[in-house]
Amino acid sequence: KRGGYDHFMLKEIYEQPESIVNTMRGRVNFENQSVKLGGLSNYLTTIRRSRRIVMIACGTSYHSCLAARDLFEELTDIPISVEVASYFIDRKPPLFRDDTCIFVSQSGETADTLVALKYCLERGAMCVGVVNVVGSSLSRLTMCGVHINAGPEIGVASTKAFTSQYVALVMMALLFSEDRMSKLQRRKEIIDGLGTLSEKLSEVLELNDVIEETAEAMKDKTKMLVLGSGYQYATALEGALKIKEISYILAEGILMGELKHGPLALVEKDLPIVMIATKDKLYDLVASSVSQVTSRLGEPVFITSKNGPRLIEPTKASTDGKVAARAESDYVKFEVPETVDCLQTILNILVLQMLGYWLAVKKGYDPDFPRNLAKAVTTR
Ligand code: UD1
Ligand code: BG6
Repeated sequence: KRGGYDHFMLKEIYEQPESIVNTMRGRVNFENQSVKLGGLSNYLTTIRRSRRIVMIACGTSYHSCLAARDLFEELTDIPISVEVASYFIDRKPPLFRDDTCIFVSQSGETADTLVALKYCLERGAMCVGVVNVVGSSLSRLTMCGVHINAGPEIGVASTKAFTSQYVALVMMALLFSEDRMSKLQRRKEIIDGLGTLSEKLSEVLELNDVIEETAEAMKDKTKMLVLGSGYQYATALEGALKIKEISYILAEGILMGELKHGPLALVEKDLPIVMIATKDKLYDLVASSVSQVTSRLGEPVFITSKNGPRLIEPTKASTDGKVAARAESDYVKFEVPETVDCLQTILNILVLQMLGYWLAVKKGYDPDFPRNLAKAVTTR
């Protein structure tokens, strides 16, 4: 029933080249570069007119919202806020009839998210679901929505639901901005990117063996930082969540720009630090974070673009005169194919899902059953 895989989590990681295609099937037309979401057709005018979009979710689903925020802002020009459902309910913030609320949930049964939905329905906001399980409470109680069609997800640590939620949110942002001529080129670039994503995901899966080796070397570490900037900030948070929930390593996702405002104090010799350093417009910031880390002898592992630009200048390999300078080739690098900046998350997160998986397995834990956690939390 695990299809020849040792665990559901690994099976679901490997399903992703296919599950993201299922999310797009019948919805993205690659020939005429358009998107159609049957569930939203009758609601688009209202959604496009809303004065604010509020995305609400928990856990991994919250991270997919966070990952999608930048693109929603860029394409729709509507103010976006992203809310952790439980904190949203605790605050009971102002909410209006002309707000659109997007609820993202794999199970569609998470109590915190459902209570937030009730709050928004009572205030007359447009409530939209992005759900995997057809017939779930969230799918039924929202006014309209999109089923992500990722197929059943059994592993407690969410993997394929995350990538499919993100693809669904990207499709929504494309659809909401369909009437904006100024975004035409950008939208085309993203739709083309969606078309080649599946084969690129398969390429990332080929890193499995090197990731397994790296996990073997890292498994006795008790803490780890995962750094990302821009689009990759959400990837860092989600990657750190995967690692901590199944391998019990204290992994923390950190925005690169915040490194100097505190977390840099943690960096010392041999501290494992995963740095998401794929090429995008923030690459200079990434390179500067790399030197902040290597000069303090942290032990970075890089997720970089295949044939991407150099991260460490040969002459700057170390600023500490007491140690031998290390070149870029001395560090572990996971090289992933390049795609459009806003889709890179989908390729990069795979590396961290696999790293989390192998850390758990190498430490002797069952990644499908993390202690103290449940697949769907139906109580508040
Ligand atoms: C639908 C069919 C699909 C069929 C396709 C053919 C279902 C579940 N889906 O897919 O089998 O192949 O038409 O055109 O029968 N909804 C919510 N909240 C949510 C998610 C969905 O209210 O969180 C609603 C939608 O607004 C829609 C319905 O559920 O009315 C189905 O949504 P979805 O499966 O995403 O629609 P299609 O992709 O059109
Ligand atoms: C639980 C799961 O805490 O609920 C997480 O263990 C999940 O993996 C979270 O991300 C939210 O679940 P859902 O079903 O609302 O996406």
